[in-house]
Amino acid sequence: MKQLCIIGAGGHGKVVAEIAELQNKYDAIFFLDDANVEWCGEYRVVGTVSEYIKHVKTCDFVVAIGNNENRKKIIEQLLKANAVFPTLIHPCSTVSKSAKIELGCVVMAGAIVNADARIGRGTILNTCCSVDHDNNIGKYCHISVGAHLAGTVEVGDCAFIGAGATVKNNVTICTNAIVGAGAVVLRDITESGTYIGVPAKKMKA
Ligand SMILES: CC(C)(COP(=O)(O)OP(=O)(O)OC[C@H]1O[C@@H](n2cnc3c(N)ncnc32)[C@H](O)[C@@H]1OP(=O)(O)O)[C@@H](O)C(=O)NCCC(=O)NCCS
Repeated sequence: MKQLCIIGAGGHGKVVAEIAELQNKYDAIFFLDDANVEWCGEYRVVGTVSEYIKHVKTCDFVVAIGNNENRKKIIEQLLKANAVFPTLIHPCSTVSKSAKIELGCVVMAGAIVNADARIGRGTILNTCCSVDHDNNIGKYCHISVGAHLAGTVEVGDCAFIGAGATVKNNVTICTNAIVGAGAVVLRDITESGTYIGVPAKKMKA
C-alpha cells in the first residue's frame, strides 16, 4: 500500500480524497496547503505546498486545485522532482476502453468519457460531465460539473468549461478559453477570453 499526498485542501480536494479512498490503494491520505488549516474534512493537512519534496519518494500525488494555471504550475514543478501522479477515476463514472486519459487527471462521479476520447495531463472531469467520442481535451483543462461536450470536440490546454455548459459536436475551443456556466457553444472559439450565453458570445471587457 502507498500513501497519497493531495495538494489543495479545499472543497475539490475533499472530493478527490474520497475518490482516492475508493481505489483501495492507499493506506494514508493527507494534504498539503499554504492556508493555515489543520484539516480538510477528515484528512490531516500536514504542511505547506513547498514541503512536497519530503514526500516525493513515498507518496503518489494529486493536485486538487481548480484554477488551471495554478494546477499546471504545481504539477509541472513536481514532475521535475519525479513525483508520481496517478489518474483517479471514480468507480461510478463510465470510461470507454478506447479512451486515453493522461497522468494527473481526476474523473469524478457520474462523468462519462466515450470512445476514443483523449484527455490531457492534469485535467479535471468534474461530476456528471460528459466527454463524447473522439474528443481531444488538452492538458490542465477543467470540464465542470454537468458540462456536456458532444462528439469530436477539441479543447485547448488550460481551457475552462463552466458548469452545465454544452458544446456542439465538431467545435474547437482554443487554449485558455473560459466558457461560462450554462453557455451553449455552437461555433469555434478561436480567441482566448470569456464566453457566455446561448449561443455563447465573448463577454465584453
Ligand atoms: C462567466 C464567468 C467566468 C464570469 O465571471 P465574472 O467575470 O466574475 O462575471 P460577473 O459575475 O462579474 O458578471 C458580469 C455579468 O455577466 C453576467 N454573467 C456572468 N456569468 C454568466 C453566465 N455564465 N451566463 C450568463 N451571464 C453571465 C452577470 O449576470 C453579469 O451581468 P450584469 O453585468 O448584467 O449584472 C462566471 O460567471 C462563470 O460562469 N463561471 C463559471 C463557474 C463554474 O461553472 N464553476 C463550476 C466549477 S465545477
